[in-house]
Order: sequence, then structure tokens, then C-alpha cells
Amino acid sequence: VSGTRLDSRIDEDVAALLRSDDAAIADPYPVWGRVREEAGAFVAGPVVLLTRYDDVKRAQRDEEYFGHGGRATGTRARASRESMSGCQRDAWDEVTRFESNYLSRSEGESHLRRRRIAHRGFQHKKITELEEATERYAEEIIGACGEEGTVDLKAALAYRMPLMIICDMLGVPDEEREKIHQWSGTLARNRGGDNPEVLMAAHGALAEFRGYVDELLVGVREHRGTDLLSNILGAEEEEQLSEEELQSLFVELLFAGHETTTNLIANGLVALMDNREQWARLCEDPLLAPSAVEELLRFVSPVQWQFRLTLKEVEIDGVEIPADHTVFSVSAAGNRDPRRFEDPDSLDITREDAKSHLAFGFGPHFCIGNVLARMEGRIVLEQLSRRFPDIKLTKPSRDLRWTGNAQLRSLVELPVDLGSERP
Ligand code: HEM
Repeated sequence: VSGTRLDSRIDEDVAALLRSDDAAIADPYPVWGRVREEAGAFVAGPVVLLTRYDDVKRAQRDEEYFGHGGRATGTRARASRESMSGCQRDAWDEVTRFESNYLSRSEGESHLRRRRIAHRGFQHKKITELEEATERYAEEIIGACGEEGTVDLKAALAYRMPLMIICDMLGVPDEEREKIHQWSGTLARNRGGDNPEVLMAAHGALAEFRGYVDELLVGVREHRGTDLLSNILGAEEEEQLSEEELQSLFVELLFAGHETTTNLIANGLVALMDNREQWARLCEDPLLAPSAVEELLRFVSPVQWQFRLTLKEVEIDGVEIPADHTVFSVSAAGNRDPRRFEDPDSLDITREDAKSHLAFGFGPHFCIGNVLARMEGRIVLEQLSRRFPDIKLTKPSRDLRWTGNAQLRSLVELPVDLGSERP
């Protein structure tokens, strides 16, 4: 990459963030902001960060220059792999090969074929049919939390509800859902494979997860159930999906279907608690919930960046990025770009253009779960604001602890006092 214009202080901050240091992921926005203003294409070791709204969007939709192929190539992958011992390298190869079958890591015809199959289960109409069940889960869970007073709302609600819905859609029995959550969490921590310990844990989790999906499929083939499941299984039987593709689609959906929404709900609630007047506004008018969800998606960006590889040399803001280079298209930074959003660091649940956020990506890989995630977010906000307007954090938000990784920032817990229920 030609030209670097970074001072070392910024470099260290970025390195800490990309290493997912707990303190760095607690508040990445000052770093993203500095990076965005410093350089349109910011060189961070083997990765180039794109942080301005237009560039972030371009990297996600310009398929001529930016590809999406697995992580087996690219500068960052090579740097990670070269630093590994023999058995770590084997684990990395295996995890990478499996993940390269994910929709989010594939390209061209093969991506389109499989995306079409999965997408049939996520269309607007199908998701509307799930609304009643989602309302019911939210009501039960929030009702049970209300009886407890102080509660960890991340565990009780933010992760539990999305997990229930996606497990229903894929036919996973109740008693096995916790296992799915554990495996997903372990896989989520590994994005990129640059921490050998986390990589080895992900390798173990993946083997168990795959074994489980195999077993599960034997049972669910008999019952079918939801549209999503019938579509996927039907496609395999018609040989539009190989067995490995089927397995990875299951793992991807189970994983993508709850970790991300958990972070929207939990991180979003913290943002609302920190901006109490916005919460009060929502409590006055719970019909603002859909627009609040859009603003929270913009404000907290549950998936902070999208991974891309350059397919050919490309120049961005005077930096020539060679082909086969790893690029992070940082939606979290683009979503706070003052070139696009007025007063971007303020939370405003009535913001009119919030919906142009990049939280679900853009272009060919645009999130297929977006309608579902939006519905789940809306229902949680509507119910909480109607029933528990006095909800508050039991400790200052700066004392909350973060985990996961920098791409999928996740709270360790979200302790709240719900206050008394509005009759
Ligand atoms: C707030 C919640 C969510 C957020 C912020 C989110 C974010 C994203 C983003 C940014 C992408 C694009 C990745 C890229 O371009 O590289 C994506 C893709 C995807 N999402 Fe979501 N997602 C959410 C919820 C869900 C749910 C609930 C599901 C499924 C049940 C889901 C399934 C997927 C799948 C399968 C893809 C890959 C699509 C493809 O590559 O064609 N997501 N998501």
C-alpha cells in the first residue's frame, strides 16, 4: 500500500481495537472518528480500513473491485496463518474452509443460488407470520423479568428472544438452545483467527456444532415445520444444496440469527439509558419504536465492519490498495460520518434519514435477516417502553463490561432495575 500518514498514537489505538482489547471495545467511536477524519483509506498493518460513508458503501456494493471470497486469502489471513504453529494452522484451515461456505463469505452464482433458497423463509410476509409468536415470547420474558425487579436483561431477554425465534424457525428443540448459544458465542469470538487460543476453542465448537446439526437434521426431516426449514430441506433433496452447504447454512443462520440481534437490543438499550430524554420520548409515544430501531442500528452498528478483499488495484483517497488486500468496510464509522448524518454522535430516535444507515450492509450481501431483526427490535422497545418506563441501569454505563470481539461488540451483562410495571 503506498503512502502512510498515521501518527503512532492512532496506530496503537487501532491495533488495540482490532485485537479486541476489552477497554478498546468498550468505546470504539473516538477511534473510528479519528481514523475517519485522518484518512479516507487508513492503513492498519495488513488491513486497510474504509471509514467514510461513501467508501464503506462502495466497498459493499462495487463487486468489480471488492470481493467477498473466504478468508483463506488476503493480507490479513496470510499474516495470521504464518504466525501459527502446525496444529493451529490445521485448525485455521478447517474452520476457514467451513466458513467459506457461509453465504456471507461466498460469491457469484453459488452465492445467489443459496441466498435465494434461504431468502424465501425471510420475506416480509413470512416474517409477519412470526409476529404473534415474537410478541408472545417478549410478553412472557418481560413479564417474568418484571417479577424479579433487578435483572440481567441481556441474558434474560436480548439473547433469549432472538434465539427462541431462530431456533423455532430451524426446528431446534427447547432443551438444546443453550448449547447453540454457547457454540455461536465461541465462533463469534474467533472472527479472523488471530488469537490462537480463541481459534482452537472455535475449532472445537465447530466440530460439536456440525455433529449436532447432522443429528438434528435426521429428526427434522421427518417433521419439516416452518417454511424456512421446508425450503432448505427441499432444496437439499432436489440437489440444489450439497450436504456441506446445508450444514453451513444451518450454522450460519443459527449464529447470525441471534448474536447480532442480541447486540442490537442490549447495546441499543444502553444507548437509550445514556440518552434518557430519548427513552422518555419513546415512552410517551411507543409508536416511535420502528424509527428508534433504525436510529439504534445506525448508532450502535451491531456488526461494526464488513470484511472484503480487493479484486484489483483500487485507489481510495489517494491510497493505492493493491489486489488481494484485506479491507474492512467499517459501517460503524460510516454510520457516524458527519458527511452523511447531521450531528452523527447524537442519538435521535426521530431522525428522518436514520434508515440510510449501513448496519445491515449494502448490495449483494445485504442482510437477509433484516426484516426479522427489525421486527424483534421493535417489539422489545414497544413492550418495554409501555410496561416499564422507569427502567434504569443499576450501574453507570461506563462500568459495564464488554466481551466478544471488536466486530461484534457484546456486553457481558446488562443489569437493570425495571421499576414498577405500568398498569
Ligand atoms: C440487528 C441484527 C442484525 C445485523 C446488524 C446484521 C448485520 C448483517 C450484515 C452487516 C450483513 C452483511 C455482511 C457483509 O456484507 O459482509 C449481514 C448478512 C447476513 N445476515 Fe444479518 N444481521 C442481523 C440479523 C440477522 C438475522 C436475524 C439473520 C437470520 C436469521 C441474519 C442472517 C444473515 C445472513 C444469512 C447474511 C448473509 C447474507 C449474504 O451474504 O447474502 N442476520 N447481516
